[in-house]
Amino acid sequence: MTLPNDPKRYETMTYNRCGASGLLLPAVSLGLWHNFGSADVYDNMSDMVQTAFRLGITHFDLANNYGPARGSAEENFGNLLRGALAGCRDELVISTKAGYFMWHGPYGEWGSRKYLIASLDQSLKRMGLEYVDIFYSHRPDPNTPLEETMGALAHVVKQGKALYAGISSYSAEQTAEASRLLRGMGVPCLIHQPSYSMFNRWIEDGLTDVLQRDGIGSIAFSPLAQGLLTGKYLNGIPKGSRADRPDGFLRAEQITKEVLEKVTSLNAIAARRNQTLAQMALVWALKVGKLTSVLIGASRPEQITENVRALENREFTDSELAEIESIL
Ligand SMILES: NC(=O)c1ccc[n+]([C@@H]2O[C@H](COP(=O)([O-])OP(=O)(O)OC[C@H]3O[C@@H](n4cnc5c(N)ncnc54)[C@H](OP(=O)(O)O)[C@@H]3O)[C@@H](O)[C@H]2O)c1
Repeated sequence: MTLPNDPKRYETMTYNRCGASGLLLPAVSLGLWHNFGSADVYDNMSDMVQTAFRLGITHFDLANNYGPARGSAEENFGNLLRGALAGCRDELVISTKAGYFMWHGPYGEWGSRKYLIASLDQSLKRMGLEYVDIFYSHRPDPNTPLEETMGALAHVVKQGKALYAGISSYSAEQTAEASRLLRGMGVPCLIHQPSYSMFNRWIEDGLTDVLQRDGIGSIAFSPLAQGLLTGKYLNGIPKGSRADRPDGFLRAEQITKEVLEKVTSLNAIAARRNQTLAQMALVWALKVGKLTSVLIGASRPEQITENVRALENREFTDSELAEIESIL
């Protein structure tokens, strides 16, 4: 195994400071939402994780419910930590989350202290870890006081079960309040994980300003709009693609004529830049969304290689940006 002790993997990746913290994150991170569950092929997961790490991707993003079955992505990642990634723990930033449905009864989802703390303990067991680097509240809970949810995050950080606290899919207003509460508890919010892509720009309407003001980093999930921003759907739905899979979250109805027209026009700009559309979409998101990292998913190692190579051309001319803006 050549993975440990190979300084070469850090030579080409860019590492960005996560907000005002001491933590650097790779400009491209890998998420394990799809394709790492119990029904997926273990050798493929292992290849993907090794490919990512060889390319300098040090950050792997999980959640309690990733699978299916729920929890199985964490179990598989735990096996990889003892297998292909053995000996590499201190070179990795591993995150997990709790917020969505995980187990039956009143304590298996949302944002109570009861649920969050129990869920993190379960995640640590599944991955065979003593701590995660980042623990997130996966979604805001309208029925739990924000102080309780943030208090649970601060508690696990102070216990050492997580090194940093993060929030996901919180609005600008909720983020400002969460940030104020966490700071008051002596555990500043490290990072926000919102959805963001060329097709989904809600963070530009206030959230980005809050993150910059409070020194909070940002890592965008679904920066390729689950594959829509890759050109793979231009000639129909390929077999085995996310839109084709019954457990995939991308639905065929989302691939409309209007979307495909935009993809075709964006694809032409990417070709002029000697990039694939996926590559252009990723560097566009990093720049326009002022992100610390783009959090990609993948079903094959080659996609990870292609996506990391996006960083080779991350400059945009004003006219390219204007042309993209007019298409979007
Ligand atoms: N916080 C939250 O609530 C939340 C929600 C969703 C996701 N996330 C996190 O964000 C991560 C990424 O989300 P995502 O998977 O939706 O991201 P994405 O990067 O927008 O989509 C990934 C999918 O696009 C396709 N793809 C990727 N690169 C490609 C390429 N170069 N060419 C062709 N197709 C390509 C693959 O699908 P195919 O199967 O079609 O090949 C891949 O699985 C997740 O794993 C998870 O960690 C968080």
